Amino acid sequence: MNESPQNWTRTAVWLHAIMLALFAMMFFLAYTWDFAHGATKHAMIDLHKSVGVLIVMVALVRLAWMLTHKGPRPIGTPSQQKAALGVHHLLYLLMFLMPFSGYVMVMMHGKPVSFFGLFDLPVLFQAHPAWKEFSEGVHTVLADIILVLVGGHGALAIYHHVVLKDETLRRMNPFS
Ligand code: HEM
Ligand code: HEM
Repeated sequence: MNESPQNWTRTAVWLHAIMLALFAMMFFLAYTWDFAHGATKHAMIDLHKSVGVLIVMVALVRLAWMLTHKGPRPIGTPSQQKAALGVHHLLYLLMFLMPFSGYVMVMMHGKPVSFFGLFDLPVLFQAHPAWKEFSEGVHTVLADIILVLVGGHGALAIYHHVVLKDETLRRMNPFS
């Protein structure tokens, strides 16, 4: 078995930064559109749907990178490494589950999902009133899980940098 590298490749670092920016945008839109009205609100919701589809595309590239490259091991004791890898894998899973739950929810509302007006996603399931609320609940719960995981993940990265003073945050910084 090959030794793990010391650093992430530039591709991995940039994919991480892009995903972080896209997730920030998704939460920003979702938590501010209630302050908007009419066409602005609709545009924000449409943007949320399109960026959600974009997240799946970036996640596929990221997954392909993960399957073909070895990243550095997380810095820490074996159990800390295991926990960090577990969270990373869960986040990978959520990059697919979260958009999928949004897609299902919109289908349950009987509305289309357009990708920046370029094409519509196929309607896989017919709208069903009984599943409307349930699918909304799933989307909300997954969003809460992401907030907790990303909150802990980000806070620990900063803890590594500020308190432990190791390379964890620096090696994932696209500008360093
Ligand atoms: C809150 C801001 C964030 C910070 C400060 C941050 C920081 C980091 C750092 C420093 C690493 C490298 C860990 C190591 O080298 O051992 C990392 C890896 C990772 N992060 Fe984040 N992260 C953030 C947000 C996110 C978000 C929003 C996602 C996805 C939803 C995410 C998913 C991942 C994944 C999957 C890895 C494993 C490396 C990879 O496969 O690319 N992170 N993060
Ligand atoms: C990683 C991707 C996504 C994230 C992080 C995300 C996050 C969120 C969040 C935080 C909310 C607010 C939930 C609440 O206040 O209860 C929300 C609502 C919503 N999302 Fe997403 N979402 C994602 C993908 C998608 C996709 C792909 C679609 C559609 C194709 C979508 C459609 C919607 C809709 C229609 C709402 C409004 C639901 C309502 O008001 O009841 N989302 N999303």
